[in-house]
Amino acid sequence: MNNTILVTGGAGFIGTNFILEWIAKSDARVVNLDLLTYAGNRRNLSSVEDHPRYTFVHGDIRDEALVASLLRKHQPRAILNFAAESHVDRSIAGPPAFVQTNVLGTFALLQQARLWWESLPPGDQARFRFLHVSTDEVYGTLEPQDPAFQETTPYAPNSPYAASKAASDMLVRAWHHTYGLPVLTTNCSNNYGPWQFPEKLIPLMILNALEGKPLPVYGDGWNIRDWLFVEDHCAALRRVLEDGRVGETYNIGGDNERPNIEVVTAICEILDEMVPDPSLGKRSGLITYVKDRPGHDRRYSINSTKIQRELNWRPTEPFESGIRRTIEWFLAHLDWVNYIRSGAYQQWIEQNYAERLAQ
Ligand code: NAD
Ligand code: TYD
Repeated sequence: MNNTILVTGGAGFIGTNFILEWIAKSDARVVNLDLLTYAGNRRNLSSVEDHPRYTFVHGDIRDEALVASLLRKHQPRAILNFAAESHVDRSIAGPPAFVQTNVLGTFALLQQARLWWESLPPGDQARFRFLHVSTDEVYGTLEPQDPAFQETTPYAPNSPYAASKAASDMLVRAWHHTYGLPVLTTNCSNNYGPWQFPEKLIPLMILNALEGKPLPVYGDGWNIRDWLFVEDHCAALRRVLEDGRVGETYNIGGDNERPNIEVVTAICEILDEMVPDPSLGKRSGLITYVKDRPGHDRRYSINSTKIQRELNWRPTEPFESGIRRTIEWFLAHLDWVNYIRSGAYQQWIEQNYAERLAQ
């Protein structure tokens, strides 16, 4: 076994950030197994494509023969499972892919991880880690006055996405409890930052506001999310990988709870300042309240005391600077945006918003 890590889903938003930082900050190799669904883009990683410590493999985490061969070939010291279907709205419109990848994909990966781990000599077995990247949405929803989610909060997923992630977390737990696989699970809040696929709230609003399109806010706009800058999340994952206690789960949050309407308004104000467009007036005038998401969770809030205390990690990017950095990144990467927004993306926007905006 060597110092290599196997990342799954590394061509998506968080995986891309993780791999770019990993190559820049460590001297270890990374193998990226990604199916390149609509959310995965090999172009994200073009700056490291030819790097001697980076290997891309186009494939499915459900393909056990492929996973087994990658483990034999690259002998990784860890698997980091980012691969998932990750968009709640898509899970409502079409749940099967979420069960396939999030549940059966994690199951397939665990099967092969276990076989690989059991074949290792004791020293390598002790060093090996399976880090599963999950979400705070498994805990369900909070009322405004409720305490934040802790690692001990009972699971109560409400969307098909959250249910599929909760199921995968349970499988990971069982593979540790039953077979001894050295697993770590992280449950983080809403990430934002560079490379986020522009169907999620923040990039969607940045791009629509830039172009003078309606800004579709679901319901009354008072659903609250905790926003975690993606670099802070990646730093937390590195800490958990190195020093997390085997079998434990760690909540990762940004200490940045905001109602959606406040996030959208902040984006409008920053764009008005950075890219003034007199023909649009104030961009907040583009805000359009639309039909709510069914089963829309009201509030997420994360208590990250455990990772702060045990692993000395804390979020460092305040929302005010993180959102500016994100907007600046999107303004500097409009060619990437145009590439991403072709084909499948356009279809989704029509499917999700045509009826909502017509009302
Ligand atoms: P994403 O949708 O941007 O990327 C997912 C990646 O997984 C894509 O590159 C896709 O091609 C790949 N993939 C999908 N199915 C696959 C399969 N069967 N085999 C191999 N690869 C496959 O997601 P993201 O936002 O980067 O999220 C990464 C992980 O973090 C997910 O597990 C998600 O549940 C979790 N998470 C994300 C957020 C967030 O705010 N983005 C918050 C909490 C947790
Ligand atoms: P999203 O980015 O889809 O993340 P999640 O549902 O996993 O938290 O959405 C964040 C919040 O923004 C959520 O409360 C739904 C809301 N939202 C809108 O109001 N309008 C939109 O067009 C989108 C995509 C999301």
